[in-house]
Amino acid sequence: MTQPLRLLLISSEVEPFAKTGGLADVAGALPQALATLGHDVRVLMPKYRGVERHGTLRTAVPRVRVPIGDRTTEGALLEGRLGRAVPVYFLAHDHYYDRPALYGTGQGDYLDNCERFIFFCRGALEALRALGWTPHVIHANDWQSGLVPVYLETLYKDDPALGEVGTLFTIHNLAYQGVFWHFDMPLTGLGWDLFTPAGLEFYGKLNFLKGGLVFADVLNTVSKTYAQEIQTAEFGCGLEGVLQYRRADLHGVVNGIDVAAWDPATDRDLTKPYSAEDLAGKAACKQALAQELGIDADGAPIIGIVSRLAAQKGLDLVLEALPELVEAGFELVLLGAGEPGLETAFGQAARASRGRIAIRTGFDGALARRIYAGADMFLMPSRYEPCGLGQMISMRYGTIPIVRRTGGLADTVVEARPARRTGTGFGFAEPTARALLEAATRALAAYREPALWRQLQRNAMAQDFSWPASAREYVALYRKAAKAAGRGPT
Ligand code: ADP
Ligand code: GLC
Repeated sequence: MTQPLRLLLISSEVEPFAKTGGLADVAGALPQALATLGHDVRVLMPKYRGVERHGTLRTAVPRVRVPIGDRTTEGALLEGRLGRAVPVYFLAHDHYYDRPALYGTGQGDYLDNCERFIFFCRGALEALRALGWTPHVIHANDWQSGLVPVYLETLYKDDPALGEVGTLFTIHNLAYQGVFWHFDMPLTGLGWDLFTPAGLEFYGKLNFLKGGLVFADVLNTVSKTYAQEIQTAEFGCGLEGVLQYRRADLHGVVNGIDVAAWDPATDRDLTKPYSAEDLAGKAACKQALAQELGIDADGAPIIGIVSRLAAQKGLDLVLEALPELVEAGFELVLLGAGEPGLETAFGQAARASRGRIAIRTGFDGALARRIYAGADMFLMPSRYEPCGLGQMISMRYGTIPIVRRTGGLADTVVEARPARRTGTGFGFAEPTARALLEAATRALAAYREPALWRQLQRNAMAQDFSWPASAREYVALYRKAAKAAGRGPT
């Protein structure tokens, strides 16, 4: 029996407390799976406005003093709970985090994001010192916690408590790097000697994500295919050189989904529950969805999309393909929030095809569930996709994914082979409207054969996307990180 680990997962969003995308799902579910495996796992995130709606918080450390440039600013550490077993620490500082949104508004990112997340990274370490609890490994995620491994290897290297803490850095999305002008460098408290191409500098600017990539003991991303893709110029976002250099330490661990939270048999937001054995409820969900969103309930196949509206998601391809999709007999429902230009374009498309296309903007967890359940197919034509959760959630709901074969989409959707009745979805390779339409046409042909379609639904619903297998892979990476840092059990 190997020794349990003490683990701290640091994330800028955690479901159910705050969410803009899949990072929150992962940060909410992985720790619970690790706790089930017997590890002492805890989570740390900012105390955004409204997090206390999801549980009672108590004060863990009343004063956390954090150096920011040549000042010291004071926050606090609160504690709540994730599920039954996982303590969650909230780093509080109202000036930074008591705002309407996490990172910015429709007008753009908050102008002081650099300072907000310097405080988050350094504050996390100062809070740990004050708390007197030392993890074997800190698991940092995405650019917002990218400076944590940097601090541990520099300013905290000789700290008696934190000096030997191992670090794992997970890339959930390489395109968001936290890049700020060099004038912010002094706020970090780090020396200018780190502001070089081998350190934090990126074309004359300060790059948080690069800090994580250079300084963490072990790196990973959220699918095996994306781990390969990001080492190329096409997907590397300018950091492919660093990733190639660190390829021996770079792993891919596919995300799971929380199968208890995403379950059509118990989902309270659905009109009628259903399961792989009895899909009758799914037809009722489809009917109700059409009614709710004002599209014709005439038996046409409904394509669902639930997505951030961002260039990554390839929604421009959907806009281009829409007239032909409608012509072919599809209906489309889209729930999304993000780039105003895309919201407008889809709004116009919906007005032009009333009764066939429905668009809802904003973030709406309950409607998302009704779309996962009520749609027949789920479309993710992403230009790149580190993992993607939507396709896994939709499969769990018996909704057949149509995906661009990239990143985690390629790793989780098995191409349907109608003659053999195998597979779980339909994929296409080229990022073009033509290729998307071609995959949709294959899906439509299968949809028109009810027995085949039911079998594909059963195949999809039988996939095991639960966390335990991936959580075990994470434990192996944590042990590697602990060992690299010269600390703790192996
Ligand atoms: P990403 O993290 O790139 O946004 P993922 O597929 O990994 O993509 O995760 C997206 C998560 O966010 C899923 O849980 C999805 O259901 C949810 N989601 C995305 N957009 C919305 C929205 N507008 N309303 C509700 N949930 C959404
Ligand atoms: C990112 C990626 C998405 C991934 C999620 C969780 O937001 O865009 O593909 O599933 O993080 O890892």
